[in-house]
Amino acid sequence: MRYRGTGFARPQVSPPAKGGATLYDSLAAGQGVEPLAFVASIWGESLPHDVRWTGRDAGYRVAATDLRTDNVADTLAAHGERLACFTMDVSDIVQVHAACDQIEAHFGRIDVCVNNAGFLQYANCEQTTPELWHKTLRVNLDGVFYVSQRVAPGMKVRGFGRIVNMASFGAKTGGLSPLPAYAASKGGVISLTFSFAREYAPFGVTCNALAPTFVKTQMLTEQVSPERQAELRQKIPVGRFCELEELAHSVLFLAHPLSGFITGEVLDLNGGLQFD
Ligand SMILES: NC(=O)c1ccc[n+]([C@@H]2O[C@H](COP(=O)([O-])OP(=O)(O)OC[C@H]3O[C@@H](n4cnc5c(N)ncnc54)[C@H](O)[C@@H]3O)[C@@H](O)[C@H]2O)c1
Repeated sequence: MRYRGTGFARPQVSPPAKGGATLYDSLAAGQGVEPLAFVASIWGESLPHDVRWTGRDAGYRVAATDLRTDNVADTLAAHGERLACFTMDVSDIVQVHAACDQIEAHFGRIDVCVNNAGFLQYANCEQTTPELWHKTLRVNLDGVFYVSQRVAPGMKVRGFGRIVNMASFGAKTGGLSPLPAYAASKGGVISLTFSFAREYAPFGVTCNALAPTFVKTQMLTEQVSPERQAELRQKIPVGRFCELEELAHSVLFLAHPLSGFITGEVLDLNGGLQFD
């Protein structure tokens, strides 16, 4: 059997733990199954942009979540049934389970999980208060754990799943500006990525992370002055920040059925700032 549209012979994938066709089988057979991408915090102020890149136009139905959803009702309505949004604070395990229950009730299952929620407040080691430390870890690290722990077992049973975690260049380097709590939380995300990758590899479920430097989102534009942005841009060998579409391309690549041999990878998007 050939994977539709690629010309490649279908590689062997792990059989599902229970009977029935996997998502991979359905895609390979061209049965038009639309996988469900669940994006744990998607929008900030850029929902229309995000939805396009995170998969709706790539054939996914998308379940988007964030701390609040009322501010995007109009945008969501324009996307019809292929997009639904749910309120979820990733740092609250009760909310994580409730939102995932709702998503599964609405769409049936979760095939791809993008752990995108993040919190950053610049503070150096001396300025970092216990409150800032704990809040950063709760959102960036506890959140990834709670969401992944909730969605991975279903993926395992179906024999297919993709978890993509948003780490950071700061996790590997300490960052170009002081952000110890953020760097430590994202370092934890990388370690969690390895743990989930190892545990779920036999079941057709991959877990990978992205390590971007600077992506043109609110996190950058609202917290970094234009002057500092110009300085940072100069340090990046390609001479610019990462575009959202470029980040999206990497998410979709790691989510693709043919990326099943890639797991436990931390993919750098740093414009050549560091090679490892
Ligand atoms: N923008 C960058 O330069 C950059 C670089 C490296 C990594 N990242 C990572 O990429 C991801 C997306 O960041 P962004 O740049 O779009 O930031 P952003 O601040 O624009 O968006 C982050 C989103 O997370 C949501 N969020 C915050 N706390 C939450 C919580 N407790 N529960 C649920 N949602 C919550 C916010 O409401 C917001 O919509 C983050 O994990 C971030 O750490 C960003």
